[in-house]
Amino acid sequence: MNRTLRYRRSGRLVSILALTLLCVGFVSCRAEKSKAEASSKERQLIVGFSQIGAESAWRKCNTRSIRDAAESYGIQLLFDNAEQKQENQIKAIRSFIAYRVDVIAFVPIVSDGWENVLREARDAGIPVLITDRKIRISEEGLHAGFIGTDSFEEGRNAGRFLVRKFLEKNPTRQEAAKQVRVFELTGTIGSSVATGRAMGFREVIANHPEIEIVHSESGDFLRSKGYEIAKRCISDLLVVDAIYSHNDSMTLGIIDALKEAGIAPGKDVVIITIDAEQASIDALRRGEVNCVIECNPKTGPAIMDLAVRLAEGESIPWIVHVDEQVFTEFDNDLDAIESRGY
Ligand code: AHR
Repeated sequence: MNRTLRYRRSGRLVSILALTLLCVGFVSCRAEKSKAEASSKERQLIVGFSQIGAESAWRKCNTRSIRDAAESYGIQLLFDNAEQKQENQIKAIRSFIAYRVDVIAFVPIVSDGWENVLREARDAGIPVLITDRKIRISEEGLHAGFIGTDSFEEGRNAGRFLVRKFLEKNPTRQEAAKQVRVFELTGTIGSSVATGRAMGFREVIANHPEIEIVHSESGDFLRSKGYEIAKRCISDLLVVDAIYSHNDSMTLGIIDALKEAGIAPGKDVVIITIDAEQASIDALRRGEVNCVIECNPKTGPAIMDLAVRLAEGESIPWIVHVDEQVFTEFDNDLDAIESRGY
């Protein structure tokens, strides 16, 4: 190689290096993501995913997000719908192990009872990612991490709104130390989200003895059960001040029953709900719901990103909580809320 050519080449090399250094700050995050995407495309990864069902618009959006992200990452997704049964989830996870997938991810319908099947996954050398709902387990090393929402914080946000609505915004009531009676409809018994939403709420109201939960019952996150329970308890609902419902599906059922009984939702009784489906945002705009706490279902890309890292033998954060918002009758420009997509 002659000298001039060598200098020209090294000059070009210096320019390329300088340009790279200039750009590196701007693109580092993006590069991380595309590295993960690219590496999943080099050798097609196989992820086994056990979903709990299709009980709500929220859940259907969560499934869409997971399927779309797998496609965009070039990941082969073995998807199983457990139809609300833990035993179906355990069977699906065993079939993923037999198939020797690269990573297993699942939404645990309830917190307990996963030790045996997770030991089998560990013994087969397959990393496991938990998403949306958490598990309760005493043995370490049976799963790699969690990605999803913070259900305690969702419950705390529900409690904070109640305090603001009845105590801070209404000094007369505070002075009179009147009781605030709450009717709670919880999610699936034994699920981490129902526990978190109940405990976070109680943590906040514990500082306010005027607030009392007068009825608490599980509606299993289903619209049909929300409706049935509200119908059966309609005389209680006539005298409570607020309804705290752990998800929008149940809330929509409750609203139907209240309207049938001539009770104005959001006016005769305050309603706090979780998920932020389009239907509940619309109800907030109509004044039929007073507070909507987002539970973000669009976790597919983050799940696939973590799955790629696990398949490459990297360790991942123990807990990744996704960002969430609160929409209320007080402080949001309700018309500015973007279309939810679920
Ligand atoms: O686990 C998340 C909860 O499950 C959502 O709030 C609910 O709508 C879904 O069924």
